[in-house]
Amino acid sequence: MSHIGSYEERVKEFDWSLSETELDYKDGDVLNIGWYCTDRICKMGKADKTALIWEGLGGQEKRYTYNDIRVASNTIGSFLRGLGIKNEDRVCLFMDKIPELYFGFLGILKIGAIAQPLFSAFGDESLLVRLSNAETTAIVTQRKHVSKVRKIIDQMPYVKHVIVVDYDGKKPLREREIAFSLEEAAPVDEFEIYPTKAESPSVLHYTSGTTGQPKGVKHVHYSLISQYLTAKWVLDLQEDDIYWCTADPGWVTGTSYGIIGAFSLGVTQCVMDVGFSAEAWYKFIEKHKVTVWYSAPTAIRSLMKCGDEPVKKYDLSCLRHLASVGEPLNAEAVIWSERVFGKAFLDTYWQTETGSMMITNFPGMKIKPGSMGKAFPGITAVVLDTETYEPITEPGKVGLIGFKPGWPAMMREYWRNEETYKSKFINGWYIPGDRSSIDNEGYFWFTGRDDDVINTGGHLVSPFEVESALLEHEAVAESAVVAKPDEVNMEVVKAFVTLNAGFEASTDLELKIMNFIRKKLSPLAMPQEIEYVNTLPKTRSGKIMRRLLHAKEWGEEIGDTSTLEDDE
Ligand code: WTA
Repeated sequence: MSHIGSYEERVKEFDWSLSETELDYKDGDVLNIGWYCTDRICKMGKADKTALIWEGLGGQEKRYTYNDIRVASNTIGSFLRGLGIKNEDRVCLFMDKIPELYFGFLGILKIGAIAQPLFSAFGDESLLVRLSNAETTAIVTQRKHVSKVRKIIDQMPYVKHVIVVDYDGKKPLREREIAFSLEEAAPVDEFEIYPTKAESPSVLHYTSGTTGQPKGVKHVHYSLISQYLTAKWVLDLQEDDIYWCTADPGWVTGTSYGIIGAFSLGVTQCVMDVGFSAEAWYKFIEKHKVTVWYSAPTAIRSLMKCGDEPVKKYDLSCLRHLASVGEPLNAEAVIWSERVFGKAFLDTYWQTETGSMMITNFPGMKIKPGSMGKAFPGITAVVLDTETYEPITEPGKVGLIGFKPGWPAMMREYWRNEETYKSKFINGWYIPGDRSSIDNEGYFWFTGRDDDVINTGGHLVSPFEVESALLEHEAVAESAVVAKPDEVNMEVVKAFVTLNAGFEASTDLELKIMNFIRKKLSPLAMPQEIEYVNTLPKTRSGKIMRRLLHAKEWGEEIGDTSTLEDDE
């Protein structure tokens, strides 16, 4: 049982000012997440406490205290400021999970610039669309990723600097490229942090939709108010915890709860910059005595697939609390985790746009395996009738999730895309685009997304982006991309293509096309299967009917196709 109290107690008289008071924040004050995550913790007497335990390939380990991360973020911030980067400029972090990514993120916030983290496995095309939309001023990256930036740099006149954090002096740097070494730079102890306010922009995360280009979700420094309190209550972070969030800061979980949540609470967190393997993960937990673990259903299902034996080889009794996010957490995974770890993974639901957890299970609440939990205190969550957009009162009836706007971490806009932003609000509700029902005790039961976005292993992939990239391959005439069921990743990308004259359908070509997408977009967006077809199902006006292909993949009833063939 947690130290804070039951769900009902917390909901009663809940106000976000609870979080503001704990953070010593008053309306109108300067509010800078970079300061809150480092300087403030040092001022609270925890300068020598371990902030970050980092592990890379081959078990290489680095440890940093709160004072170390305060100085490191100052040092990077000062370097960026020295280059002429100013408040509200977008600075992209395009790196593996190396320490510079974490300190760079905080340093960018300290100079009032906007951190734009992008997943380091992104290919040049994925990078280009996101950097051009944001008109990014600088890219902080590593040697191993710089070639992808070079491929597109000529198309990005607004990019003034490409900062390489591990330059080894071997190959000459090119125009606009500059080396920075955290180890060699003079540590900056005293730093003038830019006086951002609650509504100053902080982070820009890109998320994929069904149509159009990815959208830049703009967050502000005030998001801290939700992120701090949800990390404290839902992740149940306490003074002596060793916390491990497995998410990459290229995605929102990796920043909201892989950087901001735990650091603002002055808790020690671990980062593992090594690919997935069950044994490596268990070893990591045992070695660092991880107590709180925030992960994702695909990872849990992958662990489950490896069986109980590997679990038994390690002493995982340190684990106190487990939570999950990103995709439906099936009841089997909850039950399995309870059996093997002695603790059930508690599900949390939220999205890039919400910035912080919205529907959660937390310690002290009754857990119903398979349910996402209840609305976090301070969040008004409903399911809406899909025709009237009025809240459904009948328990168990499925509708669209709706949130009453106004929680601190809510996105403030889609970057330069007001129209799409506005379309997310109907009848005074923010509509995240997911379907669910609510039972008679207020528990939410997720049933699916309301669009064609593919959620593969907790990562959102836009079919539109993959289809467009496929068309750039010389063999492909037309394409349609849908989700295909997968035991571990829940969904994977499947492409249907018709070929241009002169190209023969073959396994070799399939592999070539897959690789083409992997390089251009990312391994996540790469189709796991390509099916050659002679024609694609279309409406009379020529629109491809993804829905039909999707239904076939999932063995669902297609219904009356004659209406589908008409444009609706
Ligand atoms: C899905 C990740 C079921 C949902 C933080 C949402 C979930 C999208 C859950 C957001 C969950 C997230 N159960 N589905 N517990 N959590 N989702 O923006 O479709 O990368 O809209 O944010 O993931 O993904 P995003």
